[in-house]
Amino acid sequence: MIDDSYLDISDHDSFKSGVPHKTFERLRNEEPIFWTKEKNGRGFWSILRHGDILKVNQNYKVFSSERGIRIEDQTEEEYIARRTFQETDPPAHRNIRSLLNPAFSKQKMDEYENLVRKLASDIINQAIQNTKFEAVDKIAKKLPMMMLGRILGVPEDDLDWLVQKGDALIGNSDPDFSELIIDKEDSEKYRLMPFRSPAGADLFNYAEKIINGSVDITKEGILFQMLNNIKTSEGQPVMSNLEFKNFFCLLVAAGNDTTRYSIAMAVYQLSQNKKLFDYLKNSENYSRAADEFIRVASPTMYFRRTATCDFELQEKRIREGDKVVLWFVSGNYDKTVFNNPFNVDIDRYPNPHLSFGKGGVHFCLGTWLARMELKIILEELCKKIKSLKKLSEPTWTRSNFICGVKSLDVEIQK
Ligand code: HEM
Repeated sequence: MIDDSYLDISDHDSFKSGVPHKTFERLRNEEPIFWTKEKNGRGFWSILRHGDILKVNQNYKVFSSERGIRIEDQTEEEYIARRTFQETDPPAHRNIRSLLNPAFSKQKMDEYENLVRKLASDIINQAIQNTKFEAVDKIAKKLPMMMLGRILGVPEDDLDWLVQKGDALIGNSDPDFSELIIDKEDSEKYRLMPFRSPAGADLFNYAEKIINGSVDITKEGILFQMLNNIKTSEGQPVMSNLEFKNFFCLLVAAGNDTTRYSIAMAVYQLSQNKKLFDYLKNSENYSRAADEFIRVASPTMYFRRTATCDFELQEKRIREGDKVVLWFVSGNYDKTVFNNPFNVDIDRYPNPHLSFGKGGVHFCLGTWLARMELKIILEELCKKIKSLKKLSEPTWTRSNFICGVKSLDVEIQK
């Protein structure tokens, strides 16, 4: 495991063996507001401590999402071409978000509970037909993909393709996912596409087909609703065609890998800690366990903001226009907030983790879905097996944006 205390957090390679926790820990202690010079950018501030992250995330007037949410710099043209509602501030953001909230509410997700249980049960039954298998492919990947399909309302036959494209978008710095590696190859041709990625172009084409009716989407799905039923108070469509295409890519990317990597992290932790597995198996409270695994996983390690004016934070002068990166993954291991943060404590309560973007107006729309999927798949897994053991060390995404176990061989006993 590469994990010394002085790794460059702007370099994807620093993350290719997992989160460089020692570096984040040192920064939390020594330089909690930290400036990184970039080779190909104008540099950025990192916010490392839980309290400071909350403070910045709550202050959308000073720390705006409108100039991009990943570290990469974008021109005005790129920014406009690739903007989703996640790259807007209130009031524009609030207007769209309030229309989407009901489709992702806890109440709405509770309606899916039986379906999620059935899917999870089938997935686990299928996986444990063999005593040895690769757990990301056989367990972690499947449920988020199936549920995303339902929620979007796209044909089941297209799901594998969509997930592969979503992986390529989010994993644009990982050769296992993307045909074009963002920090190594020329991506100029795709600069107006989501994530500057060829997969973005493919997903745009697919979304275009949805708009012109040549993909058969269900009437219950959010895509049909957005195109036909959800309107502004003036009766206008909520999004232009371009905004819809970007929204589609956002959902395909955001609704998939993040939950997959939370499940994968849970399986990894359980597979290397028999006591934890036995304890969870007898636990009454899988909801708390699910949240703890989501803290430990921290799948989206950061989101970025841009300062709209000069601002002083912990005696550092942030200048108007500076990029400010909120390292949720670092805040989630802040020992001033989480007792023994490197310990997986499935009873941890309260658990004010930042994995869903706590405190901000962009707080994850898929929170209830992700929590439910994780809780239920863990219940089904623990119900059906007696033991779980890892057979190999996991492989990790090469990305400083998304942290995830890509593969993990395990052995189970029924
Ligand atoms: C464990 C799983 C997940 C994690 C860790 C996660 C993480 C996050 C985070 C940190 C944000 C805040 C972004 C910001 O502050 O700019 C966010 C926003 C968002 N997430 Fe998730 N997410 C997860 C699952 C999902 C799922 C399942 C969906 C959809 C099906 C989803 C859709 C979204 C959307 C649309 C936004 C933008 C919300 C807005 O701008 O108002 N996420 N997510």
